[in-house]
Amino acid sequence: MPDYLIAPSILSADFARLGEEVDNVLAAGADVVHFDVMDNHYVPNLTIGPMVCKALRQHGVTAPIDVHLMVSPVDRLIGDFAEAGASWITFHPDAVTHVDRTLQQIRDAGCKAGLVFNPHLGLEALDYVMDKIDVILLMSVNPGFGGQSFIPATLDKLRQARQRIDASGRDIRLEIDGGVGPKNIGEIAAAGADTFVAGSAIFNQPDYAAVIGDLRAALTT
Ligand code: DX5
Ligand code: ZN
Repeated sequence: MPDYLIAPSILSADFARLGEEVDNVLAAGADVVHFDVMDNHYVPNLTIGPMVCKALRQHGVTAPIDVHLMVSPVDRLIGDFAEAGASWITFHPDAVTHVDRTLQQIRDAGCKAGLVFNPHLGLEALDYVMDKIDVILLMSVNPGFGGQSFIPATLDKLRQARQRIDASGRDIRLEIDGGVGPKNIGEIAAAGADTFVAGSAIFNQPDYAAVIGDLRAALTT
């Protein structure tokens, strides 16, 4: 069985009790903390930055923090997030001018690096940078908000991304973000994803362990 990772998006957490929410979701069986950074410029919403990432580390969070940058420009935030304790940093190739340089900058800062593809974008940006990538993140909603519906065309793109990863022979995670829940995670995994972001599907339920259990159960059947 593939090594599946569940990554709750804290966008749907109660920000007034963020440390406790992250502790609870990790205790409930989550693997990775998905950390959505929005700038009211690249996307029409405004969220959190390096200070909050640092605060989670100071609070005692040791799980990987997966920083999804929905910002433009990107480069000047990389050092700040690396210092704040980010583990993975992903960005949208259409938000930067020099994709190769930005990927290298993330790795040089000691983090795993990844590219994020919006629903309408093809995967061509991967063509010459597979050796600098640790994670490919496919958006299955238009970025900016939690609680949207999964866009079905993403399943075909997942299959294409899986083929590219397998053909490369590299250790690259394939992450999916948007509209993921117990009802569709099985077909999303079958299309090739191994890392699953879920925000509203987890945080809108009272029992995080139950819903994470449902997600894992749907991955094994
Ligand atoms: C959307 C964010 C997602 C979002 C997912 O722009 O990148 O991580 O929080 O939320 P759900 O799982 O509710 O679609
Ligand atoms: Zn995200």
